[in-house]
Amino acid sequence: MQQNVSETSSLSIIVVGASGDLAVKKIFPALFALFCRKLLPASFSCYGYARTPMTDEQFRELLMSRLNCRYTPGESECRMYMEDFLKHCFYTSGHYDSKEDFEALQTLLKRHEPADTPLTRLFYLSIPPFLFLPAAQSLHDAGLAEELPGRKTCRVVVEKPFGRDRESSDALTRGLAQVFTEPQTYRIDHYLGKEVIQNLMVLRFANLIFEPLWNRNNIDYVRICWSEDIGAEGRAGYFDHYGIIRDVMQNHLLQMLALVTMEEPLNLDPENVRNEKVKALRAVRPVRYEDIVVGQYTAADYEGQAQKGYLQEEGVPPDSITPTYAAAVLKVRNRRWDGVPFLMSAGKGLNHRRTEIHIVFRQVPGNIFAGPSATPHPNNLVIRVQPDAGISLNIMTKVPGLRVTLQETELNLSYAAAFAGEIPDAYESLLLDVVKGDKSLFIRADELEAAWDIFTPVLRDLESCRVQPQPYLFGSGGPRSADALAALHNATWE
Ligand SMILES: NC(=O)c1ccc[n+]([C@@H]2O[C@H](COP(=O)([O-])OP(=O)(O)OC[C@H]3O[C@@H](n4cnc5c(N)ncnc54)[C@H](OP(=O)(O)O)[C@@H]3O)[C@@H](O)[C@H]2O)c1
Repeated sequence: MQQNVSETSSLSIIVVGASGDLAVKKIFPALFALFCRKLLPASFSCYGYARTPMTDEQFRELLMSRLNCRYTPGESECRMYMEDFLKHCFYTSGHYDSKEDFEALQTLLKRHEPADTPLTRLFYLSIPPFLFLPAAQSLHDAGLAEELPGRKTCRVVVEKPFGRDRESSDALTRGLAQVFTEPQTYRIDHYLGKEVIQNLMVLRFANLIFEPLWNRNNIDYVRICWSEDIGAEGRAGYFDHYGIIRDVMQNHLLQMLALVTMEEPLNLDPENVRNEKVKALRAVRPVRYEDIVVGQYTAADYEGQAQKGYLQEEGVPPDSITPTYAAAVLKVRNRRWDGVPFLMSAGKGLNHRRTEIHIVFRQVPGNIFAGPSATPHPNNLVIRVQPDAGISLNIMTKVPGLRVTLQETELNLSYAAAFAGEIPDAYESLLLDVVKGDKSLFIRADELEAAWDIFTPVLRDLESCRVQPQPYLFGSGGPRSADALAALHNATWE
């Protein structure tokens, strides 16, 4: 059902770093989608801010090239919506550490913001992380982030990565807290906005059949895997500073792990949900050196094309030890999960693009079906995050016929087939939550601390000892030693 957020308040969305990839490809298209679905207040304006000089018209042209008509089929109607939306978009250029440039932005905002209605200002820091603090400080110095009780509310959205380790993350949290309070701060992990991830709590807590089995007595192991069949490409400079553990595992994959392992919250109050996630993350033992395998892709022919190795990517130092692949085994030390291995892998330059969670159940005890064609396979519940969002459950079935032959078959829920209509993009869902002030799907400071505590020690070991990542061919399944790691825990990656 369509819902107007608030007819009576006014909204200013300020995207800092508006010339960038994320702003143009994700943030503005998501805002346009909310506009088309009448989910933004009638009085709203979007302001782009970055150093690149652009007029409003040039900025609108840039945005126009990436808006799409998912919610407004029909070319002429869509064009009308786009033109209408773009009339609400403005641009001003400036430096991220310049109080004067941000004061010019403040003047522009004041020109458009109605004086007589309650106002929400939403600042989206879509800039490289080293600019978060200078930009926040300039917003503060120029008076842009000042709140007026009952009249003006300010919120800030910060993109990951939130630091490089526990220490730098804490420093970032402290620095941002000088300008924005914790309740004003929305740390975004766009995986939490994905439909299938949002469905995890529903799957677990709105169905009777899973929860009684959701524990160490019935689950053999859990696998959370993320892979891409592309390399670091245009982002290699950025990527080399972070690597796959910080870029994917510490945030996206740990968030999935938290949702799989957490206890049922008291209700859906954002703080109650996040309390349970923090408890789940706090129960995870920090990853040790012997629990992880790291790799780096090398040049190879893949699908008829010569692919560069990571060390040949532009912006990557020739002696880089940054992992493009990591596989780890995590342990959750609590009554529900003790002894269950959580296998986690993330890699670029692999042979497929896929994000999935596998809940692998234990073998059925005391098999009454004799013979090799009658051995039950363990059930496997698969939550497919991308590309083909869905949920499937492998079950054993008798093959129709005169003999008892068992076969593994799949109950498959494909989102595309089951749900009519467009599935919202993660950024649409998350931006709407920021507009509404709902923080359930955003990372709280203590959640971030708990997530960094899991990976910071092993990152330090890998980097201080300059551990060489194991080479794997672009387009392969990753380093073979990951299989040995899984085998140590009687598990596999397939
Ligand atoms: N792109 C994605 O899909 C994605 C996904 C998840 C998270 N993120 C995070 O979202 C944020 C924005 O991502 P992005 O891909 O849009 O970044 P980006 O394109 O590299 O940077 C955004 C803007 O920041 C300014 N900028 C970039 N490098 C700068 C530098 N060295 N000094 C000063 N200004 C600089 C540029 O604008 P001007 O030159 O015009 O000032 C650029 O257009 C980052 O924190 C990133 O880690 C991005």
